[in-house]
Amino acid sequence: MAPFRWGIIGPGRIARKFASSLPFSRNGKLVAVASTDANRAMAFAAEFRAEHAFSSYSEMLEKALPDAVYIATPHPFHYQPALLALEAGIPVLCEKPMTDSRRQTFALAEAARQKKVFLMEGMWSWFLPHMQQARRWIEEGEIGKLVHIQADFGYRALRDPAGRLFNPALGGGVALDLAIYPMGLFYKLLGPDLEFQAMGSRAPETGVDEHLVIQGRSAGGATFQSVLSFLAHTETRALVYGSEGRIEFSKQWFRAVSATLVRGEETRTITCPADGFGFQFEADEVENCVRSGLTSSPDWTPEDSIRIAGWIEKLESLV
Ligand SMILES: NC(=O)c1ccc[n+]([C@@H]2O[C@H](COP(=O)([O-])OP(=O)(O)OC[C@H]3O[C@@H](n4cnc5c(N)ncnc54)[C@H](OP(=O)(O)O)[C@@H]3O)[C@@H](O)[C@H]2O)c1
Repeated sequence: MAPFRWGIIGPGRIARKFASSLPFSRNGKLVAVASTDANRAMAFAAEFRAEHAFSSYSEMLEKALPDAVYIATPHPFHYQPALLALEAGIPVLCEKPMTDSRRQTFALAEAARQKKVFLMEGMWSWFLPHMQQARRWIEEGEIGKLVHIQADFGYRALRDPAGRLFNPALGGGVALDLAIYPMGLFYKLLGPDLEFQAMGSRAPETGVDEHLVIQGRSAGGATFQSVLSFLAHTETRALVYGSEGRIEFSKQWFRAVSATLVRGEETRTITCPADGFGFQFEADEVENCVRSGLTSSPDWTPEDSIRIAGWIEKLESLV
């Protein structure tokens, strides 16, 4: 099959992981890189063997005409380049969270709908093979009726008031950075009707939320809990309990790792391939959808992104 030609906007930390994962995707090939800094674009393009480097986002979209573009700037700077790409008719994979507000996420989804161009939030974790297997185990009733899910994600972040995590102007805060992981898991496994409460604390230096404890309940009666933190390295485990068994994700459950189904004495484990950083699976999803003429992925729709953006705003307001 012909290569699926990717462009990258914002060649920074996460873009490196995406570019390192692309060789492990089915047909993905990095062809163009755009940065506001020409040297950064050229260095990144040389390192990952992309043919073209641009110092303008719009020039890359016009001249390289990639099959899809991956937006990897900090979240307050997703909206403009994503809109630019949608208006140019180029499919968009936008890093998580899609924007820093429900309003802008809604506006991007609306632009994609009107232009009939593909748009997906880069919720890479959901497309990892062990996540998809866990979903199948649950759908097939392997652990019975869902009772409770817990998922934590905490790390001791570098306390740089100017950096992306603590700076409000760069979309700082633990809810914007991390809440999509557990809330996305609860949503995908328990459905959209979730009610929840949260408590937490704010960073004294900048006022962004830096620690959150979430607990809630789904319409079906299952409960869920999460701890998100910039203050401590938590165990980063996720567990899904059902009436007939449980699924245990290995540490760093949101990365390319493994999941184990436990039913009484019986255990079954699925392990993710260790190649790349795991971003190849979301890249494959984009390629499959775009080649099939879809304007969104049935597995992570713009409506999913809008709903979770609303929950993130609620979490920010509860701290
Ligand atoms: N999926 C994951 O596991 C994961 C992990 C970490 C982060 N992320 C997400 O990835 C995104 C980028 O995070 P990152 O840590 O990779 O960012 P980063 O390395 O700090 O920056 C990436 C690029 O964004 C642009 N940029 C940086 N600061 C900017 C500013 N103040 N104003 C305008 N543009 C700016 C630059 O693009 P130019 O080169 O064009 O100037 C830079 O090359 C965030 O939305 C984050 O939530 C996802």
